[in-house]
Amino acid sequence: MQDKLNEIRESVRSTLNKAKESSHIEDLRVHVLGRKGELTALLKGMGKLSPEERPVVGQKVNALRQEIEGWLDEKSRELAAKERQARLNAETLDISIPGDEVKVGNPHPLSTTLEKIIDIFVGMGFSVAEGPEVELDRYNFELLNLPKDHPARDAQDTFYFNENILLRTHTSPVQARTMLAQKPPIRVICPGRVYRADEVDATHSPVFSQCEGLVVDEGVTMGDLKGTLDTFARELYGEGIRTRFRPSFFPFTEPSAEVDVTCAACKGEGCRICKGTGWIEILGAGMVNPHVLEMCGIDPKRYTGFAFGIGIERVTNLKYNVPDMRLLFENDLRFLSQFGKGRV
Ligand code: PHE
Repeated sequence: MQDKLNEIRESVRSTLNKAKESSHIEDLRVHVLGRKGELTALLKGMGKLSPEERPVVGQKVNALRQEIEGWLDEKSRELAAKERQARLNAETLDISIPGDEVKVGNPHPLSTTLEKIIDIFVGMGFSVAEGPEVELDRYNFELLNLPKDHPARDAQDTFYFNENILLRTHTSPVQARTMLAQKPPIRVICPGRVYRADEVDATHSPVFSQCEGLVVDEGVTMGDLKGTLDTFARELYGEGIRTRFRPSFFPFTEPSAEVDVTCAACKGEGCRICKGTGWIEILGAGMVNPHVLEMCGIDPKRYTGFAFGIGIERVTNLKYNVPDMRLLFENDLRFLSQFGKGRV
């Protein structure tokens, strides 16, 4: 037994002396101390020994085990340090090589405009309301005074799933939902994507985005609407920008108006962009039709309200002088990257 122990001891020592890599140490550890290792085998064989011999031999095997573990740890520390040193010597760092450029994206101009619009209205005490893009006919049309056979529906033809489910044509249904869900005072803006069955051209797209607004309270007047939109236009396009209301028609507002702002490109002088008029149309607005208030559960004798709807693409293109709406959707990086840091 003693011979066997000596033999193992010697063989471990000589292997250790020759070991050049830390992986050799691990192999040796498994070979001798592992579950199927030489020393483990000796311990397993102790059953054959007499009861007197057992503790003596056990002690010797364990002593050798500890000794070997010590050597292995020491040798593996020594080799690891050597290997680390060798790696450090081999790896030189050339700090003159130019770094890889990290390409950072930038917000899409539509997002930037929408964020700006939201900021302006939140500053005036509005909160943001959202609703589904797949909408019920009831919210998109009926509650807004556009019953099933109403001719004004033609101006907002859209994509239908069935007779009662469609892709919303404006974000006004969010206003109807808001009025049904909460009592006045109401002051919300409803940003979001909307859909119409329009052919694509420089000023039309079947998908576009709006930010509509709704205020309902006691004593709200058209003067409040004008003041709110004036403030909005000045905040968005700068001082000196004015608004102009032209009579119009929407089934859900009465009276209704198309709202123009001073052409920011020529400051109202008249240019190619505003077709010589000095004005640019950016939104539709009006006083909420009392019938709409009533259908949405609000007493029109006590409350009045105003609403407006801004087209985000149009406002964006005017702000950045973009001539064609398609540029906003094509995702050409040569276009989009112009709105990077410092540009917007
Ligand atoms: N919903 C209208 C549209 O999409 C815009 C609008 C909103 C007009 C609110 C008046 C009042 O065309």
